[in-house]
This record gives sequence, C-alpha cells and structure tokens, in this order.
Amino acid sequence: MSTQSLDRGHRSPRYYPVYLDLRGRRCVVVGGGDVALAKARGLVDAGGDVTVISSEPSSSLDDLAASGQVTWLRREYRRGDLSGVRLAIDASDGALMAHDMGREAEESGTLLNVHDQPLRSGFITPAVVDRHPLLIAVSTCGESPYAAAELRRRLAGSVGEEWGQLVALVGRVRRHLRESGSSPAFQRKVFRHLMTAEVRQLLRQGQAEAATALAARLAAGDAAGPGRVALVGAGPGDPGLLTQAGRELLGEADVVFYDALVHPGVLALCPPGTTLVDVGKRPGRPGPLQAEITTRLLESARAGLRVVRLKGGDPLVFGRGGEELLELTRAGVQVTVIPGVSSVLAVPAAAGIPLTMRGVASSVGVVTGHEGGADGCPSGLEAVAAAVDTLVVLMPLGHLEEILARLAAVRGSAWPAVLVGRASWEDEKVVRGSLGELAEAARRAGITAPATLVAGEVVGAAVVERHCAELGTTLPGTLGRGGAKHD
Ligand SMILES: C[S@@+](CC[C@H](N)C(=O)[O-])C[C@H]1O[C@@H](n2cnc3c(N)ncnc32)[C@H](O)[C@@H]1O
Repeated sequence: MSTQSLDRGHRSPRYYPVYLDLRGRRCVVVGGGDVALAKARGLVDAGGDVTVISSEPSSSLDDLAASGQVTWLRREYRRGDLSGVRLAIDASDGALMAHDMGREAEESGTLLNVHDQPLRSGFITPAVVDRHPLLIAVSTCGESPYAAAELRRRLAGSVGEEWGQLVALVGRVRRHLRESGSSPAFQRKVFRHLMTAEVRQLLRQGQAEAATALAARLAAGDAAGPGRVALVGAGPGDPGLLTQAGRELLGEADVVFYDALVHPGVLALCPPGTTLVDVGKRPGRPGPLQAEITTRLLESARAGLRVVRLKGGDPLVFGRGGEELLELTRAGVQVTVIPGVSSVLAVPAAAGIPLTMRGVASSVGVVTGHEGGADGCPSGLEAVAAAVDTLVVLMPLGHLEEILARLAAVRGSAWPAVLVGRASWEDEKVVRGSLGELAEAARRAGITAPATLVAGEVVGAAVVERHCAELGTTLPGTLGRGGAKHD
C-alpha cells in the first residue's frame, strides 16, 4: 500500500455521544450468534424489555429466554417487528433484511444499529469499561474498533473496580448535601476531598465502611484534619518513568513543591489550577533554605490543601527527603511516601549496565560525591569502593577529577567506569572509559548535571556485550525517549 493511498480516504461522521435510559423500553436484537447474545445481555443489563428474533437454534438463547430475561421469536425478522421499539440491533449478517429493517427503523423512529456497518446504522456502540454506575465509553467513530478495544483495555487497567463504588458514594453524598441545602462552594470542597486517593484506597482495600465513615465526616464539615503531604519521587526525568501512584497524586494536588531535577513533562501532568512552587536548589544560585521549604509544606498542609512534595528520582535518596519526612511527621502531618525510580538504578540502566551480574558483581555501594569530608568529598568513598563490586557515585561533577583519582588509588586506574549525564532526558549523554580516562572523556562529551558515575567490572562493555550476545540480544541504548549518545 502506498503512502498516497493512506493519505486519501473518507472522513468518518462525527457522532454525538449519549447514554440512553432503556429501562422498560422495548428493544429488539436480530440474530442468534455470539454478537447478538452479547448485545441482548447488555440491553437486559440496562433494563430493556428485550426481544430476540432468530431462527437459529441456540442453547444460550434458550437459557436467556427460559429465565424470562428475553422474549425469543424463533423466526426471521418481519416488517412490523420494530413497531413501538425504541432501539434495535441487527446482528444477523443478513444484507437484504438489513435493508428492510433500515427502512422500517427510519419510518418508526427506532434507533437502529447494524453490527459492523456504521454507514447503515443510526447509532454505533462504543467499547465500554463498566464500573457501574461509572461507565466509560470509547468510540473511534467507526474508524477502528481495534483501537477502541485497546484503549478500553488500558483504561480498565487504570480505572479499578473501586471507581464504581467511589462514584456511587459521591452520588449519595451529593444527594445528601443538596437536601441539606449546602452551599455550592462547600459541596465542591467535599467532592474534591472525596476524589482523593485516600477514599479510593480504602475502597480498593475492601474497607467500604471506613470509606463511608470518612465521607460522612467530610460531608459534616470535618474535612481538613491535620493536613497531608505526599512525598513523591518524580523519577530521573522522562515522565514515563513516574509511578502510577505519583501520577494520581499529581492529578489531584492543590499545590506541588518541586525540585530542580523534575522534568517539565512531569509537572505538565498537574491539572490546570494546581499551584506549582519551584523550591529547587541550583548550584551557584541562591535557593530556598531547607527550613523554609518545610515551613511552607506545613503551612499548606494545615490549610487543608493536598500537598505534593515532588523530588527527582526517589524522594528518600540523597534529597533531604528524610529530614522533611521527619519534620512533617513530628508536626503531626500525615505523610505518604511514593517511591520513584532513583538515578541509582536509572543511570546504569540508561547505559545498559547491570549493577549486579552473575560471576562479575554481587554487591553494590552508593555514595555521594558532594557531602562528607572536609574537602567536600564523601568520607566513605575509599572504604565503600574497596568493599563493593559496583560503585555508584551521585553528584560527582563538582569534584570529578578528585573522585576519580581517589577511586584509582583504591581500585587501580584501569577500573572501568561510566558517567551518564541527564539520564532519560532528551539530551542524555553517556561516556565510558577507565577511571584514568573518564575526566577527559567527560569534558570532551560536555557532560552536564545531573550526572552519575558508575564504576566496576560490570561497566566493561565487553562483559555486557558478551552477555548480550549469549542471550542473542543487543546492547540496550537508553531508558527514556531522548536517545542516548554513547561515546
Ligand atoms: C540530590 S541527588 C538526588 C537523587 C535522587 N533523589 C534520586 O534518587 O535519583 C541529585 C543527584 O542525582 C543524580 N541524578 C538525578 N537525576 C539524574 C539523571 N537524570 N541522570 C543522571 N544523574 C541523575 C545526580 O548524581 C545528581 O547530582
């Protein structure tokens, strides 16, 4: 098929989405196959008064009819069958009959769907994620049922069963608030709280009573409590590496305090109206003091806001997350911690380096190149380097040459190493070399922060490549969407 023939083509109609109330309404399904049965069951579930017209023998249809759920007319469709019918589905594959039915539907004002033939249909049926009373309908306007089914599958994965219970609970609270004459502003406040991950989590864990009790407290005005903060790991950069839990919390946050290492694509996941506060500390520039950040977190939580403290990588790895967690907890604020993909793991993965490998490395050490000894270098550097097979050094750029020299003194200057700058960002860079070569290679490649150093035999490309060859795979390039440049 040529590109030109793909370029042309018809424009599908733009449909108007509706949900029909079919309770007690007469509905007709023509056909006795699997599709017809599925349609008939769907209409029964919606409360329709369903007649199936089919001359085909079918034990499933027998069962449905015997249980009184449908009326089965064991014959072909005849003109007049659509009289007084609100909705009809032709799942019979009979082209001639479809023509007759189409005419009758037109005359009698019956909504008609001819299965798999959108152009002969007055309506088409969407792919549905059913979390009653929540129904998510997906339509591609007849262009690609496959794409609709795929999207339904993905939505079904992210919208769990608890959503149905949540929507029902919100509905009950809504009726109560309306009857009690609550102001619209108060109602909105209660709904915002109800939609938080906390209520959903209770429902997901089967604690419906606790969720209802919480909803009752919120509806009674006992909403804010001591306040809450979610300490969320944003991952190394690429928004695709943010956890689902992190995404959900960002999606419902009132205010997000974020660090310098957070990718703009992650911030873009916050809904409009979220207050975004940059509290990043950047080298050479005055940033907010740690105490100031903690105070602002506390104030926001106490004001009843949903606060997210968003940190690069994992929130509790070298990011002062531990201190914030402690301070907030001491102040009586409830803190949820959502782990993130730390650069400790993301950086070696970006360079295709296993941190451990059978027969090569079975221990890993992580140190910072920033804090510690009087010279600004980590006091434990040599000790850790001597003790482990693979070493990960975070924040190495400020003292790179010195760190490499100190490692070389312990492990020899031929120890293989890799430096990855901005792993999983669009401008990710990877340089490999021995400890003796790496400083110059990094300068040539123009590696910029944030960067992480990994050293150990596992870094030897030969080791990885040999292993990959054994497995019949190729050396992985990059984690994220940027496309790593390997020097
Ligand atoms: C203050 S620490 C925070 C670490 C973070 N909490 C984590 O778990 O990745 C910052 C250091 O993490 C490393 N880092 C963070 N993101 C990185 C990235 N995308 N690529 C390479 N290194 C990264 C760098 O060593 C950087 O100097």
